[in-house]
Amino acid sequence: MSRLTVVFLVGAAAAAALLGAAVDAKIVDGLRAGFYNKTCPEAEGTIRDVVNSEIGMDRTIAAGIIRIFFHDCFITGCDASILLDETPSGDVPEKESSANGFTLHGLRTIDVAKSTIEAMCPNTVSCADILAFAARDAAVSAGLPWYDVTAGRRDGMRSNMDDLPGKMPAPGHQVPRLAELFAQHGMSQEDLVVLSGAHSIGGAHCFMFSNRLYGFSQGADIDPALEPAYAAQLRQVCPQPREEDDPEKAPKVSFDSRTAQELDNVYYSELLAGRGLLTSDDALIKDPETKKTVELFAANDALWQQKFAQAMQKLGALDVLVDTTQGQIRQQCRLVNTQTTQQTTQQTPQSTQESTQSQQPRRPGFGFGRFIPGFHGFF
Ligand code: HEM
Repeated sequence: MSRLTVVFLVGAAAAAALLGAAVDAKIVDGLRAGFYNKTCPEAEGTIRDVVNSEIGMDRTIAAGIIRIFFHDCFITGCDASILLDETPSGDVPEKESSANGFTLHGLRTIDVAKSTIEAMCPNTVSCADILAFAARDAAVSAGLPWYDVTAGRRDGMRSNMDDLPGKMPAPGHQVPRLAELFAQHGMSQEDLVVLSGAHSIGGAHCFMFSNRLYGFSQGADIDPALEPAYAAQLRQVCPQPREEDDPEKAPKVSFDSRTAQELDNVYYSELLAGRGLLTSDDALIKDPETKKTVELFAANDALWQQKFAQAMQKLGALDVLVDTTQGQIRQQCRLVNTQTTQQTTQQTPQSTQESTQSQQPRRPGFGFGRFIPGFHGFF
């Protein structure tokens, strides 16, 4: 068994042990439709154009953006804390967690959207709102019908990778644990099944599920829940892990081998056919209750699409900062504005003035995508 697999299995158990320490998140009222109608009327359209143009160059970015949004909202709410490269406190940011790291995909799109918007409407549109709009645009580009995104989120000023353990679902989790983590965020078991449908697009690196392909249990080398032909295909793409493997070079496999680029309900029929990629995907058909929901969505794409849009709206309201005494409108999504200026400029969302960018020196060698497998994070 590779070091990564061991880290993953041991870490998942450790995360489960941290259950009692988790802090509840809540759905906050206060976001509204048309929030930028007066202050930056072109914002939504511009973000959509940027997202579509980036996805036009690389379709895989759509999945990446949706995942970034989910990971942001589940940790200290939808405050763009996942986008920070560094923090004023010196805490190692969420981005560096092994649940994120190099597996985050699409960050550049958010940077491009932000710099485009800043050139049009300086200090007005938060990174958290840009991410929420971009996640919707990514979903729509992959085939989901349009849905409205309310706005008014402010950007958080802290980000700490130590916030992830015990809050973030892991690929080895079963339904009771997944449902528990969703419940901590005010999300139902149905939301869990609905939002897992995001795995209709994008993929996972082999080390996220190789424990199912090699040395699964004493009695079975391969997870018997996997359809044999599918398991054989996966083994061809994902060789047996070795200690010296570089995780960043690990192959990535599509969750949905039939319609990998379409955000549709095929994910659910694939689950029922034993072609769920992660243990956490397959778990949805092991539990009798979630299995019923899987069957429902497998039979009704329109219903799932509608529920998915609603669940994304719910996700987007988690612990949002809407009070102007909280958070800030970051000038760059990767950096907090200076704290001194921030304290003296408590502004309305309509204001066009915000504080200036952090003058703190960046730690050497610290930046986008640094990843230390297994040292910290949710595994
Ligand atoms: C229910 C528990 C969940 C678990 C355990 C989980 C875990 C994972 C893992 C391990 C990956 C592969 C990352 C990689 O190897 O690069 C992944 C990818 C992905 N996840 Fe989830 N996820 C869950 C729920 C969600 C939810 C709720 C969403 C969105 C609403 C989501 C959206 C995605 C997307 C779109 C990808 C593909 C990313 C890409 O290809 O760049 N996931 N997830």
